[in-house]
Amino acid sequence: MADQAVLQINGKTLELPLIVGTEKEVGIDIAVLRDKTGAVTFDPGYGNSGACESAVTFLDGELGILRYRGIPIEQLAGHASFLEVSWLLLKGELPTAAELAQFDAAEKSHRDLPDFAVQLIKSLPRNVHPMAGLAAVFATLSSVEGPTKDLEAGLAANELRLLAQIPTIAAYLYRHTEGLDFVAPDKNKAYAANYLNMMFKGTKFETNDADIANALDLLFILHADHEQNCSTSTVRLVGSAQAGLSASIAAGVTALWGPLHGGANQAVIEMLDEVVAHGGDVNWAVAQAKDKNSTFRLMGFGHRVYKNFDPRATIIKVQADLVLSRLGKNDKQLALAKGLEEAALHDEYFIARKLYPNVDFYSGIIYRALGFPPGMFTVLFAIGRLPGWMAHWNEHNAGKAKIGRPRQIYIGKNARDFVALNKR
Ligand code: SDX
Repeated sequence: MADQAVLQINGKTLELPLIVGTEKEVGIDIAVLRDKTGAVTFDPGYGNSGACESAVTFLDGELGILRYRGIPIEQLAGHASFLEVSWLLLKGELPTAAELAQFDAAEKSHRDLPDFAVQLIKSLPRNVHPMAGLAAVFATLSSVEGPTKDLEAGLAANELRLLAQIPTIAAYLYRHTEGLDFVAPDKNKAYAANYLNMMFKGTKFETNDADIANALDLLFILHADHEQNCSTSTVRLVGSAQAGLSASIAAGVTALWGPLHGGANQAVIEMLDEVVAHGGDVNWAVAQAKDKNSTFRLMGFGHRVYKNFDPRATIIKVQADLVLSRLGKNDKQLALAKGLEEAALHDEYFIARKLYPNVDFYSGIIYRALGFPPGMFTVLFAIGRLPGWMAHWNEHNAGKAKIGRPRQIYIGKNARDFVALNKR
C-alpha cells in the first residue's frame, strides 16, 4: 500500500501521509490540509473521521469484533470480574492476584459518599431522572478531586474513588426517587452484590443470589468501553479543555442519556410496552419501524459502527434467558423481543440497512426482571462505562492533546449592516 494519499484541489496537488494502526486501519493525516489548501474536510457525525489514536479498545463493525486492550469480549465475559476489566482498561494489563486483592480492598473502603453528595441527592426532586442526578453529583464531586498524579492501590486515587462511589450514587438516587431510606455500602460484599443490596434491601426485589450478582457484573463488563462512541468522545473533548475528571464524566453521563445512545435501553422497554399495547403484534411493530411517516423506531436495533451482530447483544441474549429462568419468570417482553428480532432479521428493510440488535436490545429486559425501573437502566450503563470513560480521559490528557475544536462550513448570511430599530 502507498504510504500517502494524493489530493488534488483547485489545481494543487497535496501529498498527505497515511497512518496505519496495529489492526491495519488506515488514516489520512490531514493536519496540514487547511494551511496548504484553505479547505477543511466535511463529515457530519464523524463517521469517516478519526479523532485520535487510541490503544484502549478495538472494534470491527463488519466482523462483530470487540476487544478491550486486545482481549476479546467473549473471553473477558466468561472469565474476568468487572474490577479486573476496570483495571485492564485503566492500566492496559490484567491485574496480578496481588494487585487485584489490593484494588478490591481499596475499592471497598471508598464506597461511602461525602456528606455534601448525600445531601445533594436528598435535595433533588423526587421525580428527577436518575441520569440528571448522576450528572449533577459527578459535577459536584469535582470539589473533592485530588491531584491527578495521586495514586492509591496502583490506580489514580480519583479514579478509584469514582469507581467505588458510582454504585452508591446510583442506589441513593433510586432510593431517593422511591422515598426509601438509604442503605449504606456493605464492605463485605463484592461490587455488584453490594450495589444490589444498596438498591433493593428491604424491598420485594431484595436478593442474595450470587448468580444474579454475577449476571449484573457481566453486564457491567459488556458495557465497560466501546472506543469513540458519543459519550466517550464527549469525555475526551471536555477533558481536552483541561476540565477535571469528575466534570468530564458528568458530560459523558449527559451524552449517554440520549435515547439514540445509552438511553436506548430504556427506550427499548418503552417500545416493547407500546407493542404490547398493540396486542403484541410483531408485524405492526416492524411495519411502523419501516414507515418513514412514523416516529416509531425499533429501539435497540442498528448501530453507527456494527453492521453485523453486536457481540455484546449475543452474550446478553443468553444472559436474559438465564436470569429470567433463574427468577422463574417467563417475561412476555423477552418472547416479544425475540419475535421482533426474528421478524426484523428476515425483513429486507433491516437486512438492506444492516440493522441488527445492539447492546441495548436485551439488557433492559434483564434489568426490569431484576426490579430496576426503566429510568435506572441508563444509570446501569453508566456504571459499566465509567472505567472506559476514565481510560480515554487519561489517554487524551496523557498525550498532551490540543483542545478539541472542529471547524465548520458556514452557510449563513453574508456580511450585512445593522438596521436601527425604527427602520425594521
Ligand atoms: C449505543 O457508538 C457506540 O458504540 C454506541 C454504543 C456504545 O456501546 O457506546 O454501542 C451504545 O448507543 C447503541 C445504539 C443504541 N441506539 C439505539 O438502539 C437507537 C435505535 N437505533 C438508531 O436510532 C440508529 O440505528 C443508530 C442511532 C444507533 C445509528 O444510526 P445511524 O448509523 O446514524 O443510522 P441512520 O439513523 O442514518 O439510519 C440509517 C437507515 C435509515 O433509513 P433510510 O433513511 O436509509 O431509509 O436505517 C434506518 C434509518 O431510518 N434505521 C432504523 C433504525 N436504525 C436505523 N429504522 C428503524 N429502526 C431503527 N432502530
